[in-house]
Amino acid sequence: MKEVTYNGLTFEPYILREEIDKRVKELGCEINRDCKGKRPLFVCVLTGAFPFASDLFREIEGDAEIAFIRLKSYEGTASTGTIRQVMGLSEEIEGRTVIVVEDIVDTGVTIKNLVDQLREKNPSEIKVATLLFKPESLRTDVHPDYVGFSIPPKFIIGFGLDLNGLARNLNDIYVLKEQAD
Ligand code: IMP
Ligand code: MG
Repeated sequence: MKEVTYNGLTFEPYILREEIDKRVKELGCEINRDCKGKRPLFVCVLTGAFPFASDLFREIEGDAEIAFIRLKSYEGTASTGTIRQVMGLSEEIEGRTVIVVEDIVDTGVTIKNLVDQLREKNPSEIKVATLLFKPESLRTDVHPDYVGFSIPPKFIIGFGLDLNGLARNLNDIYVLKEQAD
């Protein structure tokens, strides 16, 4: 497989589509086991999670629903920095099992923020499924329940993950190549 270049940066193949497919099926089995009879609501966080959510959702047996949200960033007051507000969740989640589907958990700030906001709507439980997880970058107390791949803190693209909006359509996951000195 070939390297790819975006914005002058070179990326090399890292996780192949076949491995992704296999792992998504395994996660589907785990969720099916945990959510039997619960009619879970999957909440796909746009934009990056859409390929993963699409594949994972179709592994789910029995009744399940899916909704899509976008996180709107805006500048908060002085010290709070960037706050992300949930846009587009019209479904009633009170008393339900909610499975948030993310592309990647890096520092965990995004997912923590989202889980805190969803918790205010009183679901019976919230689980987090993420295709990728960078445990060494984590600096919040939210730990994903279903993880596709734990990876070192390197920059990756493909299968939904972007560099300035590009590369989401790659079928495999690529990692930024180390620059030779
Ligand atoms: P966090 O809030 O630091 O956990 O990061 C959340 C967001 O940063 C993710 O949803 C991605 O949009 C983006 N991100 C983090 N790491 C990467 C990466 O390696 N490639 C592309 N986007 C990333
Ligand atoms: Mg994301």
